Amino acid sequence: MTKDTSNQMWGGRFAAGPDAIMEAINASIGYDQRMAAQDIEGSRAHAAMLAKTGILTDSDAEAIREGLLTVLSEIETGNFEFSAALEDIHMNVEARLKEIIGEPAGRLHTGRSRNDQVATDFKLWVRDQIDAAIQGISALIRAFVAQAEVGADWVMPGFTHLQTAQPVTWGHHMMAYVEMLGRDLSRFQDARARMNESPLGAAALAGTSFPIDREMTAKALRFDRPAANSLDAVADRDFALEFLSASSICAMHLSRFAEELVIWSSAQFRFVTLSDRFSTGSSIMPQKKNPDAAELIRAKIGRIFGANTALLMVMKGLPLTYSKDMQEDKEQVFDAADNLMLALAAMEGMVKDMTANRDSLEAAAGSGFSTATDLADWLVRALNMPFRDAHHVTGTLVAMAEARGCDLPDLTLEDMKSVHSAITADVFDVLGVHNSVASRLSYGGTAPERVREQIARWKEVL
Ligand code: ARG
Repeated sequence: MTKDTSNQMWGGRFAAGPDAIMEAINASIGYDQRMAAQDIEGSRAHAAMLAKTGILTDSDAEAIREGLLTVLSEIETGNFEFSAALEDIHMNVEARLKEIIGEPAGRLHTGRSRNDQVATDFKLWVRDQIDAAIQGISALIRAFVAQAEVGADWVMPGFTHLQTAQPVTWGHHMMAYVEMLGRDLSRFQDARARMNESPLGAAALAGTSFPIDREMTAKALRFDRPAANSLDAVADRDFALEFLSASSICAMHLSRFAEELVIWSSAQFRFVTLSDRFSTGSSIMPQKKNPDAAELIRAKIGRIFGANTALLMVMKGLPLTYSKDMQEDKEQVFDAADNLMLALAAMEGMVKDMTANRDSLEAAAGSGFSTATDLADWLVRALNMPFRDAHHVTGTLVAMAEARGCDLPDLTLEDMKSVHSAITADVFDVLGVHNSVASRLSYGGTAPERVREQIARWKEVL
């Protein structure tokens, strides 16, 4: 083969071009073209800095600036031919720039390498996704708060082990998700603050002998500062890992609520009715309305966990600094980001549209001896019984009700007295589910009063 077949960007020392298989395994343009806008933004910042520091002439920098805008519009309008022979987005953009403006294009890469370039582009991309996640989570929080407001004092069973435990309020349950999502929000905010340092100017790994101004490019790209160590700057993918781990935790929360929706929308529970907009029918069973969106959220979450694990595996064995393994970071993050944003939007839609069935919730709230703890607490308060004894007396009463096939409030005072003679009719006040939830006034408790305080607090936070 002639030298002409070697790569036009780095082929100087190569006599021949790559094998077709080599090109297939090496090229990332199939996916990293998603970073085109970030790549061009980074190049524009770099070119402006090279001109300001006198490394480039103003006229070259201006030609580069204009040319990059042309390339960007070609890409945005779908009039750009991506080439696998040019490997990746960085070289595709630069090669096209050369076709458009000629010689000055070759000066753009002064004081820079694809190593700091890709780290910069990818950081900008991930930073945008963090912002999108923050938006998506905030919208979902608002949807949960709205649900909580509608049913702040509606009663439902609270569960442990998916067994009825104690009555709680619908609003309280909704606000539990608000707390989880609030932590997700702060995890993304933390990650954003930590990652917001510019790799640009780290060059291949050691920095550069050109008198570049890294503060200037950092500022132009809205980074807080330049990364302080050039080796770390090109070797670091913590920002992608933090995005994936914050995404994984957030996705786990979405999956838990998805699971609740699947259970709650079943004929056996009927706690909620999902809207037609977020359900599907069955082609054979006409009565069916399936919670597909919830199931798909629950399933898609696995891809996000997988991406997190996959990137940890890619990184864990790499000596400093850049290794080509790191090119495998992008597809994982792209897929995880796409699925997180979709899951957030679908969950927001479902939460907004769903109807809580107040009567079913209330009927279920009282079943399963859910006020047994209230009865035990009453024995402690009214009869000054040690809690352990109260627990035992209550257990005996639960067994009696169970044997009769009734609930605790259905027992007569005589039944109660047969177990403990000091019990009075006042006990029936605490056996109602509304009394039960209203009495749980401790901070963070399920009483409607406390729930409304939390709703008000969150509305202020948002
Ligand atoms: N496409 C490459 C990546 O995504 C860009 C960096 C290439 N650097 C190199 N030294 N070969 O990682």
